[in-house]
Amino acid sequence: MGSPNRVSVVTQLLVGCGLLVLVTSTSTTPATTEVLNKVYVEDLEPVDDMPSSRIVGGQYASDGQFPHQISLYIRGDFTCGGSIISASYVVTAAHCVTSQPGINYPASYFTVRAGSSQLYTGGVYVSVAETKVHPQYRSYIYDIALLRLSTKLSFNSRIRAISLATVEPPNNSAITISGFGRVRTSGELPSRLKYNTLRSLTYGNYKRFISDVDPTTLCLSHTIGNGACYGDSGGPAVYNGKLVGVSNYIINGCGSNYPDGYAKIPSFRNWVRQNSDLP
Ligand SMILES: *[C@@H]1O[C@H](CO)[C@@H](O)[C@H](O)[C@H]1NC(C)=O
Repeated sequence: MGSPNRVSVVTQLLVGCGLLVLVTSTSTTPATTEVLNKVYVEDLEPVDDMPSSRIVGGQYASDGQFPHQISLYIRGDFTCGGSIISASYVVTAAHCVTSQPGINYPASYFTVRAGSSQLYTGGVYVSVAETKVHPQYRSYIYDIALLRLSTKLSFNSRIRAISLATVEPPNNSAITISGFGRVRTSGELPSRLKYNTLRSLTYGNYKRFISDVDPTTLCLSHTIGNGACYGDSGGPAVYNGKLVGVSNYIINGCGSNYPDGYAKIPSFRNWVRQNSDLP
């Protein structure tokens, strides 16, 4: 790995550590909340190594199974996921494109790969012309951003926009998450896209896990050994074929018994439409 990789690794580590906070929980030990963009190129799993237990938990995606999924790179290094919402726009997490709330990285740092279920290869690779971060973004809330691509994507069976959900899923709905994130807290990045099925928790139902979740956060519950992990940030949560969430954070490490935090798309749909080319 060359020196450009090391520079961004250090940057991402600082970002991650700077955002560590405590969230009040009903258990006696405080829970630790973390964003999910701390990944290292050195941790890439060899392409031919595909053990069965993995995202954390879940399964490998087939080509074209998640045509809205992109991988986002900062100065050439994989950092986050995202979802295609139109030929020119991708939605991701705000913490993927900022060094801290209020301080955006230059758009020129970012590139997007679409149409590939592999990291670092396949599909099309396009540069980002502009990033738009939600103006109310601060740690863990309103953690959503838009990327305007420098060239329009051509849709095909492996590259397609996903429509935005207008309503929150009912409690206990099956929600599909996908991403190239680590397969466990200190684990590797999978070379191939993974997905898993989590369960939505509506307000009141997540209160038994966490006491102070913002109403714009979608909580997704899972059993131990499942859920989002570092590198899944910005990636999609899908319900009934529509985008319902954008990956934001985990609590107490990957695959813990705490729910994962996603920005709730129905809460941000108007902002997304006003700041993109969606009708
Ligand atoms: C809400 O969904 C969660 C997660 O699947 C489940 O554990 C809980 O029992 C549900 N609550 C109700 C009231 O059905």
